[in-house]
Amino acid sequence: MLDQRQLPGAVVFMHLMVWQEVAQAITTMAVRGAPAIGIAAAWGVVLAARAGDDLPSAIHGLRGSRPTAVNLGWALNRMQKAIASSGSIDVSALAGVAAGLQNEDRLLTQRLVDHGVSLLNRGCRVLHHCHTGAIATGGVGTALGVIAAAHARGLLRHAWLDETRPRLQGAALSAWELGCLGVPCTVIVDGASGLLMRRGEVDAVLVGCDRVAANGDVANKIGTYNLALVARAHGVPFYVCAPGSSIDPATPDGEAITIEERVAEEITHVRGVEVAAPGAQTWNPAFDITPAHLITGLITEFGVLCPPYGKALSALSLPNQL
Ligand code: MRU
Repeated sequence: MLDQRQLPGAVVFMHLMVWQEVAQAITTMAVRGAPAIGIAAAWGVVLAARAGDDLPSAIHGLRGSRPTAVNLGWALNRMQKAIASSGSIDVSALAGVAAGLQNEDRLLTQRLVDHGVSLLNRGCRVLHHCHTGAIATGGVGTALGVIAAAHARGLLRHAWLDETRPRLQGAALSAWELGCLGVPCTVIVDGASGLLMRRGEVDAVLVGCDRVAANGDVANKIGTYNLALVARAHGVPFYVCAPGSSIDPATPDGEAITIEERVAEEITHVRGVEVAAPGAQTWNPAFDITPAHLITGLITEFGVLCPPYGKALSALSLPNQL
């Protein structure tokens, strides 16, 4: 597995041999991005089966490795269903299910990207938060995939990338991935988006998500809510790329979504160097909730959903249900 923590400095692959290492890689964000952690967890179940481990315990452990992205449930429910329906543990059959999930994500992200690009006009300037590219998924990515495809089709004038404090997924991963693809982009600090929009430099905001509730509220990387408010204040359309694997009809609204809180060191230290006053108190939620009324459209593999989202989402045939 690619160790995303080492990018952009080094491309390092880790060899994970047991499910506990996969859970640890998810918790420590060696692998991150909602679809990617779901796929990784599915392969974790295969490792558990290969080792003859107790599968319910392994699935429970993997499910708890990060709380917010529903894609973990999407993948693990599928693995559970495959185990239950076969009656016995067949490692190669389970590997086939995990590979199938990965391939499904590859196909659906491509469909999602095609729908997303259709919203963009020639010469568009797009602002993006966090990292939602290929390495966060099993395919071409979601919001960053739309930006890359818009560039490939000659539509994109510029991509603005929020650096995304505290872990800098925008500066480290999105800028690296778009750089590899030759997409013109500029990294900004998260707080610069207001000035940028006030100056009329942004035509659309595109972000990903970790969970979409039944009413259309969205959990995504901390700072997304602020961005949605600034976009609304400046009349800039705010789109969320939401693969079906991130949509959770069982969660009624954003209030019901568990928001992961991470360690203080992510705030107090930058790449190992202490930057906060020693002993300073911190609060480090990794995600926030953007209410549905601030979202212009949900870009899915089924098409672009418009408000009211409750009705549009309930009409979808979603993969999360067992
Ligand atoms: O904490 P992270 O880096 O896993 O958060 C990632 C995001 O918030 C992404 O927007 C989301 O997972 C979508 S990835 C296609």
